[in-house]
Amino acid sequence: MSNTPPASPAPVASEHIDLKARNVSFSWEDTPLHWLPGDPFANHTINVLHLLLPAGERWFVHVYKQVLPYITDEQLREDVVGFIGQEAMHASAHDDVLPHLKRLGLDPTPYTAQIDWLFEKLLGDRTLPPGAPRKWWLMERVAMIAAIEHYTAFLGNWVLNADELDRRGADPMMLDLLRWHGAEEVEHRSVAFDLFMHLDGGYRRRARTWATAFTALVFLWQRGSRYFMEHDASLPPGSKASVGQFYRSGRKGTLPSTGAMLKSIPTYLSRTYHPSQEGSTAQAVAYLASSPGANGGARG
Ligand SMILES: [Fe+2]
Ligand SMILES: [Fe+2]
Repeated sequence: MSNTPPASPAPVASEHIDLKARNVSFSWEDTPLHWLPGDPFANHTINVLHLLLPAGERWFVHVYKQVLPYITDEQLREDVVGFIGQEAMHASAHDDVLPHLKRLGLDPTPYTAQIDWLFEKLLGDRTLPPGAPRKWWLMERVAMIAAIEHYTAFLGNWVLNADELDRRGADPMMLDLLRWHGAEEVEHRSVAFDLFMHLDGGYRRRARTWATAFTALVFLWQRGSRYFMEHDASLPPGSKASVGQFYRSGRKGTLPSTGAMLKSIPTYLSRTYHPSQEGSTAQAVAYLASSPGANGGARG
């Protein structure tokens, strides 16, 4: 292939750990619709995770199960199996929030139906002939997952360090769901990228699928925020999501800052990028050891 990168990704010193899915338990009865007091826009923008992740992470699992036979590195294969277990648990934990939102008067079903269609049909297996076309589409999706995992690790790292959410009195159950998930995203942040590099690693494919994934994420996220803001009957009529609110919440620290989001672009597109260069496995593991949801649950 002509697109072999002249420089190769540079992992930081190995901090490999065995990945395992943790059983978690959350109960939502006492979590209010505005679980983040005083910032409904940030509240609902973070809530979009519950709309996108169940279908998205099940799609990761679906794709990765097809990829397992192509992996020739035993350690990587074990990592991918651990990754599959963790993502399946994430999907189901976020799924459990949706009926609670519906009980509180915010029915997510019209939006999640579209997301399900996107992942199951548009990004599904398609009826491609066996051989090269089928393999091409599989590798395209493997690369797309690596790009998406750049952002799940980015968000995981952000939420683990988002002290402003604590200062504003965010609901402890929701915060624990977000931080348990975020910590596992940081913990397994290298797997999707390592898998992509192992199976293909072409720079043009990395850049192309990043562009697709980034555009889709921005589009789906702003649509999800708008959907929640417009259907939340407790907000003043005419409440809308806007870029300005995203910028302001980022400055306050209730969402990632616009600057950090923009900086994440050249980071992923750098030819020496490796996910281990960002985030702290030690911090993630420490959070997981103390997470109420990952250690028996129950609201304290
Ligand atoms: Fe996840
Ligand atoms: Fe992940």
